[in-house]
Amino acid sequence: MKISEITVPNHIPFELLLTADPNPLLVRQYLQQGRCYAAYDHTDLVGVYVLNRNSPQVNEIINIAVQPDYQNQGIGRKLINHAIVESEIQGCREVEIGTGNSSIGQLALYQKCGFRIKAVIKDFFTNNYPEEIIENGIVCRDMIRLSRSL
Ligand code: ACO
Ligand code: ACO
Repeated sequence: MKISEITVPNHIPFELLLTADPNPLLVRQYLQQGRCYAAYDHTDLVGVYVLNRNSPQVNEIINIAVQPDYQNQGIGRKLINHAIVESEIQGCREVEIGTGNSSIGQLALYQKCGFRIKAVIKDFFTNNYPEEIIENGIVCRDMIRLSRSL
């Protein structure tokens, strides 16, 4: 498994990024400022994440997605660990990540990777997404913000 930065804009897997964030306008917006990294199984792109500098010493994993056929095989964890090392190299002191109140598996994964809940942005999803999002039988309304110190 190789993870490297995507430097050619039309190599960015937009459809895969939409599985993590269904708002194409937001995805386009953060692709303009963030750096996009991909995991490859030989030549197949199997996972992606976008890392954004929020403030001088704080990075955010703003989007992370693994191709459905490759999920639950440890690739998400490898991408998060790559983002942590990359942020250390960039001189950051903290990495943040945000997800929906209904994203139970994602909340489990991020906490297993050392992230702790820091804040809740109430009604973030109901205010920013036109379509209702339901996961695990739960309406996604609030954004849970997590962070990990480096
Ligand atoms: N309860 C407890 N643990 C759980 C649960 C659950 N309900 N669901 C998942 N997990 C754990 C697994 O047990 C596993 O932990 P382990 O390594 O200790 O066994 C871990 O979560 C999953 O780890 P990986 O296999 O490394 O993750 P994967 O490669 O499947 O990638 C990802 C995770 C990126 C969330 C993937 O499922 C995906 O692409 N989902 C669709 C897009 C998405 O939701 N992206 C995140 C949106 S938020 C954001 O982008 C910032
Ligand atoms: N992901 C998604 N949904 C889940 C998950 C999961 N990982 N785990 C449980 N659920 C859902 C189930 O799908 C079910 O939802 P559904 O009705 O839509 O199918 C629901 O949670 C479980 O509902 P019940 O069957 O009504 O709950 P149960 O009778 O099992 O009681 C309780 C839950 C009280 C938490 C029980 O598991 C228990 O006694 N646990 C040990 C003690 C404990 O942890 N108590 C709570 C501590 S916090 C406190 O006391 C305030």
